[in-house]
Amino acid sequence: MERSTALSKDKQYVWHPFTQMLTADEPLHIVKAKGAILTDSDEKTYIDANSSWWVNVHGHGNSIIADAIAKQVKEVDHIIFAGATHNQAIRLAERVATILPRRLEKVFFSDDGSTAVEVAMKMAFQFWHNKNTPKKRIIALEGAYHGDTFGAMAIGERGYFNQPFEHFFFDVDYLPFPTSENKTAFLEQAKTVLETGEIAAVIVEPIIQGSAGMRMYAAEILDELIALTHQNEALVIFDEVMTAWGRTGKLFALNHCVNEPDIVCLSKGLTGGVVPLGLTVSTNEIYEAFLHPEKTKALLHGHSFTGNALACAAANASLDIFEAHATWENVARIEEMHRQFAERLSKNAKVENIGICGTIVRFEIKTGEGNTYFSNIRDEAYRFFIENGCLIRPLGNVIYLNPPYCISSEELTKCYSVIERFLEKINQKKMD
Ligand SMILES: Cc1ncc(COP(=O)(O)O)c(C=O)c1O
Repeated sequence: MERSTALSKDKQYVWHPFTQMLTADEPLHIVKAKGAILTDSDEKTYIDANSSWWVNVHGHGNSIIADAIAKQVKEVDHIIFAGATHNQAIRLAERVATILPRRLEKVFFSDDGSTAVEVAMKMAFQFWHNKNTPKKRIIALEGAYHGDTFGAMAIGERGYFNQPFEHFFFDVDYLPFPTSENKTAFLEQAKTVLETGEIAAVIVEPIIQGSAGMRMYAAEILDELIALTHQNEALVIFDEVMTAWGRTGKLFALNHCVNEPDIVCLSKGLTGGVVPLGLTVSTNEIYEAFLHPEKTKALLHGHSFTGNALACAAANASLDIFEAHATWENVARIEEMHRQFAERLSKNAKVENIGICGTIVRFEIKTGEGNTYFSNIRDEAYRFFIENGCLIRPLGNVIYLNPPYCISSEELTKCYSVIERFLEKINQKKMD
């Protein structure tokens, strides 16, 4: 479709996510996606340094994933997943259970990150209900983001994003974002709430809070929180929707911890970021609490596309790619390049709070406004990056990169240089 027709039809018919449709810039009209590069209908190229909302780990148009989906569609495309099963789902469940710590061995399928989180919460609350010791509260972290369905919103940071719905949300006990400074107070507060005996589960984005601005915290604090939670007979849920699949330098963020969660939520890069799929993986102990002659004790949850065979085939292909050395060499290369970039950034007076974890680098632009999602600098930066051929989506005044692992060193260097030019530009503006 020709560009002007496409954009006018888009304006007429399409309602885009997280977008103020009245004032938003024209969307990019992407006609090709290959590797780390997106090409629009004017043949302008953009480096997808955002991995298309953090999902695309192996690059676009990966032939191993494409072939797996094409083959699968001819064998079993989509079948009902209650009362039926198929080889791709069985294989995927076995592989995921094998690469996760041994305790985590039962895999429930859903559609995306939000539904994986909803399932985790339902598992946790019903686990205690089925054991006849109902626990009705949940602990989350301030600044959390777990998705946009109602349950997931309820356990997220409350604010502009969910204000119109807040009256529907259940009560949540929030702990402050853990830092080395507040560690003692953080753990004491956690202990006090956990000792009420009313907590079904603690849910966290392990070691990095994504939407809060790629905020990083120490695995050691998390280990202590897990231990405390288990001492007080509550469950630990790791929402690894953003952190899994190599993002943090290891396959899962939980690999940075000594103690283990009871439930893990996976999505985004699970299928290489090509088709939607969510998984919620639980321990056998949780699973067994749902086994009962009474059908009402079962996990009465499911989606039409649960266990979609094309998505499972893509996920199995993605796991094959993770088994290749080159993937991990790329992860290490990106981290090393980020380190050199961070070293330069640390000398920039406009920059603070630089963080690196695996393939993610983040920093804040000093604005004097603090980190707010609607910060003006966000739109200015986004436009500058787009004009200069980089899809980098700041979170407020936080600039971050989390590219597909196939990104070339030249492409990554271009992203750094575009960011540095933006910093120069705003520095210059201030001096004028
Ligand atoms: C940590 C985390 N959990 C859950 C979600 C929700 O995932 P989805 O957008 O696939 O529903 C996200 C999305 O960014 C996320 O970062």
